[in-house]
Amino acid sequence: MAKTVIAGNWKMFKTQRETLEFLQGFVEQVSDTPGDRGIVLCVPFTNLSILSKNLHGSRIHIGAQNMHWEANGAYTGEISGDMLTEIGVRYVIIGHSERREYFGETNATVNLRLKAVQAAGMTPILCVGESKAQRDAGETEAHIIQQLKEGLEGVDQKNLVIAYEPIWAIGTGDTCDAKEANRVIGVIRSQLSNQDMTIQYGGSVKPGNVDEIMAQPEINGALVGGASLAPADFARIVNYQ
Ligand code: PGA
Repeated sequence: MAKTVIAGNWKMFKTQRETLEFLQGFVEQVSDTPGDRGIVLCVPFTNLSILSKNLHGSRIHIGAQNMHWEANGAYTGEISGDMLTEIGVRYVIIGHSERREYFGETNATVNLRLKAVQAAGMTPILCVGESKAQRDAGETEAHIIQQLKEGLEGVDQKNLVIAYEPIWAIGTGDTCDAKEANRVIGVIRSQLSNQDMTIQYGGSVKPGNVDEIMAQPEINGALVGGASLAPADFARIVNYQ
């Protein structure tokens, strides 16, 4: 059985002060969340140590949003596996569509990063998904299968989470229909050797739609952007019915 994992992706939001304020509201509201649900906060690098200090002994896992594949070196602006594991990071988002679109991430660099995250002892959350133009052209499946084929070369499928994030649904309020998300995630699963992989849906997940999304048989969790920034909203998502 695939494990359920709900992850917040804060993107480039929140200072350390705002992070502490979030935790004050959030931690209490997830104290009764069923124990079999993994809870992850993927925050900007500057907030990782704040989570590390304040979530010590808590069930909320710490996540980063990117990581370089080399152990160290002259890579201005990048961060290494040791730097993340030292402060207790357990998950790293890799290949988010915003990194692919704005920062030149390719399936080849995604592949290098995935293997490095695993080698460092953490779990990558690999993002895949089609653009609106690809969907309209009937290329959704082919595009995602290519992302998986090139991205997963040599990657350990036993230590991986995949997030299906249709680009047109990210930050737009335009959620993918739950049944359609379930169908595409079924296609993703058909490409994998590990049938028990946790596959999340991401793209405008909110308190008002999470119950229907999580009721789908193929969907094992959510990757949540905007709605993970407000403690009450993200707690409601984690506590989906
Ligand atoms: P959103 O972002 O929930 O704001 O649509 C999701 C994501 O980019 O991971």
